[in-house]
Amino acid sequence: MRIDIISALPNLLVSPFSDSILKRAQEKGLVEVVIHDLRKFSTDKHRKIDDYAFGGGAGMVMTIQPIASAIESLKAERDYDEIIYMTPDGNTLDQKMANQLSLCGNIIILCGHYKGIDQRARDLFITKEISIGDYVLSGGELGAAVLADSVIRLIPGVLNDETSALTDSHQDGLLAPPVYTRPADYEGNMVPEILLSGNTRAIEEWRMTQSYSRTKERRPDLLNNK
Ligand code: ADE
Repeated sequence: MRIDIISALPNLLVSPFSDSILKRAQEKGLVEVVIHDLRKFSTDKHRKIDDYAFGGGAGMVMTIQPIASAIESLKAERDYDEIIYMTPDGNTLDQKMANQLSLCGNIIILCGHYKGIDQRARDLFITKEISIGDYVLSGGELGAAVLADSVIRLIPGVLNDETSALTDSHQDGLLAPPVYTRPADYEGNMVPEILLSGNTRAIEEWRMTQSYSRTKERRPDLLNNK
C-alpha cells in the first residue's frame, strides 16, 4: 500500500511515521508513506497557498491551484483508490472505515488548514471526507496521522502477532476486555483468578463477558448497531 499525504506543514508528519510499528511497516516494505509539501506546488512567487474568502468573513481559504497541481501530479504517476480530505465536517472515522481503507492499494490524504479548502477542490478531486471526531484541530495533519495509523496496523504482516489487531477494541463491534500482567498480586490487588487458571476456554468466555459488560456500560450505542 502507498499513502501520499499532502500538507502545508509537512514537518508535523515526520515523527508519527518515524517510530515503532509505523516505521517497521515501512522498513518491511508493507507500506510506503510519502509526505508532500503543498507549498512546493504553488505557482505564486511567495508560494502562497491561501487567500481571503469570497463574500467576506473571518479566516483564510486554501486555494485550488496548489492542491490541483499536487493531486494531478500524483495521479499522473499511478491510480488512486481514494483521495481523502481531512476535515471536521467529514464522516467520522471508525474501525469499519479503517478496515475498508486497509484494502486499498494507493490513497492520497489531503490535510486542510484555516477555514478549509476551496469547495471546488473538494468537488473536483476528493472521493472521501473524513473527520477524526467532533472537535476542531489546528490542521488536518494530526488527523491524517491518526487515520494512517489506524489503517496501516491492519495491513497483514504489520503487527507481529496478527491476532492482536483482531482482538482490538471495536474490531468486533465491542470494546476490548481488561488486561493484566505480572505481578499477580500488586500490594494486595489481585489479578482475576480465572486468568491464572490455565483454562483457556473459561478465560475466553470471561473475556467475552467482560467485553460485553464494558461495552454495555461505556458505549451502549455500539450494541444498538449490532
Ligand atoms: N481538521 C480540523 N479538525 C479536524 C478533525 N476533527 N478531523 C479531521 N481533520 C480536521
